[in-house]
Amino acid sequence: MALLPILTAPDPRLKKKSLPVAAVDVDVRQLMDDMLETMYAAPGIGLAAPQVGALKRVIVLDIDREETKTGPLFMANPEIVEASDEDVIYEEGCLSVPDHYSDVARPASVRVRYLDRDGKQQELACEGLLATCVQHEIDHLDGILFIDHISSLKRNMILRKLLKARKEKERDEAEGKPPAKDQAQDPEHAL
Ligand code: NI
Repeated sequence: MALLPILTAPDPRLKKKSLPVAAVDVDVRQLMDDMLETMYAAPGIGLAAPQVGALKRVIVLDIDREETKTGPLFMANPEIVEASDEDVIYEEGCLSVPDHYSDVARPASVRVRYLDRDGKQQELACEGLLATCVQHEIDHLDGILFIDHISSLKRNMILRKLLKARKEKERDEAEGKPPAKDQAQDPEHAL
């Protein structure tokens, strides 16, 4: 297994639509395992393949909560096949949008169909944080970030701050300064 670098916004690769995998083969399983390790190390509770530069419809999640102890979930070609009319609001963050959070409304429960790590088709009823997370990750596969669900004013402000932070980091690196320790996000909001 290997830790993969996580792309951060604004990066054009995060805005691309990912392609379905033909099958869950050795390479896809390797990607899933590397993504899970990368997600745990971040730490976060969900990660989508385009966030590590692979434009494949693959996501991993692990919502470690009392009421939703699913263990790690590996999903290839995930699809929402049912969504509740009722919405729920959750304060979302994202490993590709570090240090920024915003309330996003999404269906409170969804049913997702996907291929698991063994390539078997599965369906899972998701609610609570799991429902939010699975929708957030599937959005990534369509080039959509949580900041695309908020006002353009707030989105542009966040993107400007991310660019500024990146430039400062690059300047520090060029000047040979030791890298500032990245502040760990609250994993419950690192989707
Ligand atoms: Ni995300």
